[in-house]
Amino acid sequence: MKTIILGIESTSHTFGIGVAAFTDSKPAILANIISRYVPEKGGIHPREASQHHITEAPKVLKKALETAGISINDVDGIAVALGPGLGPCLRVGATLARFLASYYDKPLIPVNHAVAHIEIGKMLFNLSDPLVVYVSGGNTMIVIQKKKRYRVLGETLDVAIGNLIDTFVREIGLAPPYIIGGKHVLDVCAEWGSNFIELPYTVKGNDLSFSGLLTAALRIAKNISKDNRNAIGDLCLSFRETAYNMLVEVSERALALTHKKSVLLVGGVAASKYLDRKFKIMTSIHNASYYVVPPEYAGDNGAMIAWTGLLLYLHKRFIEPINAIVKQKWRLDEVVLPWLPD
Ligand code: FE2
Repeated sequence: MKTIILGIESTSHTFGIGVAAFTDSKPAILANIISRYVPEKGGIHPREASQHHITEAPKVLKKALETAGISINDVDGIAVALGPGLGPCLRVGATLARFLASYYDKPLIPVNHAVAHIEIGKMLFNLSDPLVVYVSGGNTMIVIQKKKRYRVLGETLDVAIGNLIDTFVREIGLAPPYIIGGKHVLDVCAEWGSNFIELPYTVKGNDLSFSGLLTAALRIAKNISKDNRNAIGDLCLSFRETAYNMLVEVSERALALTHKKSVLLVGGVAASKYLDRKFKIMTSIHNASYYVVPPEYAGDNGAMIAWTGLLLYLHKRFIEPINAIVKQKWRLDEVVLPWLPD
């Protein structure tokens, strides 16, 4: 028997549609098409991003169905990320999902975006109970599963790590664009430096606070001449090392506490090879296996929504289209997931 779910992602800068299938209990991703909004200057402008999603939605949907080699009639359910995220962006995905579910008479499946980041990683590596480190533009969390929910062992108390890094490079005049030759501009800048500068390092129990680091680094940057590449490089290098070391410290403490056998790094910042290197060393010290979600599934994407939607579909977690309301602050630990152990 084959079950096919179409998943819609529109929580932030990315509009994506993915198709996931279960054929005789074997999972497969049949399509994963994304279109990303890139602001001309400054951070994400939610209305502009939602306009981008509205314009791109028909093309992305058509391409996803073509890539999967199916028509919309072959789909068993429509999954959509209803939160957390930016209101105007979320509403584009919710509107499309309500239309497709109503017009084609398909079940509508509400998906929590954060849960989807974790589930795609667990599926790709066939993991049942990892310690999850979820790092993205909007989230920084250390997560385990317990009593049918994902539980947050530690998280940022203010800025998320992806947002921290992007704000820093933007404020010092290095971005946009944020990616140059496949590298984040923070990493490009860090290559110009060689000295470590002491910056605020704020770990509170198992939580993190990045706002002091950001403020201090921006204050130092103000006094550096634009031509002094070595000094800017030292600051970028120190900024990255401080932020990543804080994250590795809380992850290591959570690993020592829980004795998990595996660590899974998920979310857009998981693509950083420098973070990857630190996690490889830390997990090897604790004899834990380590997995990092590949780039096409690390950033926001429709495939992870489709896959999580498929798991929910198998447990008949549907809602009426009229009830598909966006939840901008929908935390992952609010969601009861029937496939997780007690
Ligand atoms: Fe995300």
